[in-house]
Amino acid sequence: MIVARTPAEFRAAMGTLPRPTGFVPTMGALHAGHLTLVAQARAENATVVASIFVNPLQFGPGEDFERYPRAFAGDCAALEAAGVVVVFAPSVEVVYPAGFATSIELGAIATRYEGALRPGHFSGVATVVCKLFGVVQPDRAYFGAKDAQQCVVINQLVRDLDLPVEIVIAPTIREDDGLALSSRNVYLNPEERAAAPALHRALEVLAGAIARGEHDRDAAIARARALLVEPLREAYLNAVDPQTFEAVPLRAPAIAIGSAWLGTTRLIDNIGVAGPDGRDPLVNSTLVMHR
Ligand code: PAJ
Repeated sequence: MIVARTPAEFRAAMGTLPRPTGFVPTMGALHAGHLTLVAQARAENATVVASIFVNPLQFGPGEDFERYPRAFAGDCAALEAAGVVVVFAPSVEVVYPAGFATSIELGAIATRYEGALRPGHFSGVATVVCKLFGVVQPDRAYFGAKDAQQCVVINQLVRDLDLPVEIVIAPTIREDDGLALSSRNVYLNPEERAAAPALHRALEVLAGAIARGEHDRDAAIARARALLVEPLREAYLNAVDPQTFEAVPLRAPAIAIGSAWLGTTRLIDNIGVAGPDGRDPLVNSTLVMHR
């Protein structure tokens, strides 16, 4: 596996590798969620590449940019073992040299939920993903449904800017107790880790209410909310439209989204409820991967 530090190094490394190219963008500290994306990309493409870049633009002041877990050597070993042939791992200076001034504005989607809690976050995500697509020029790019709102932002970015890449959304990978895998789970102390799966259980309650088409939205959300007990503190919990993230009546297709604080760490998760056509509102991959 070649580690490319600059766009020029990346292009040289790609040489005449066969297409299609599948691309998995990451911020490193890789876990089985990331590696499932790589496995799926490998199954569907001739060449698989990844990026590791902790993107300062998507972190707000006071967020965890400095202390975000970094595990470069182990990440490279895992990517190589999973079949990645080139990893793009630039420095901040390479991605954002002096004079860098462009940013991407996204409209309403970026003002809700994660966007409201993290002003500028999705603009930072969209800007870096756009740059990564410019360097990598993949045929397909792979994202996890765990970050549902990010998936919607990326789909909108690609559609609005006519970017020539197919976006593949893969299912959320979870621990056996339901907790969605996340690089930030390492921040949880044992008490917080024990409490964490309640977020998924709350989302299951809400997803069930969506699937049944329950009429009393507030009652269903209250039932789900009742599971978010101390030390969990709700950040948001709602049933939303899969495209706009506007709150909707409990009718599929919809996504049950939720976020909760545990100390200074905030968990996010969601469950998509398929409509009558049986298609998941986010996941569009034809291949179902198992851990
Ligand atoms: P990161 O948090 O490293 O996640 C990289 C990819 O892995 C994202 O598409 C994310 O949704 C996916 N992922 C994370 N946990 C997952 C899980 N439990 N199951 C399935 N997929 C999972 O998301 C980012 O990085 C950044 O915002 C990025 C897109 C790289 C732009 O900087």
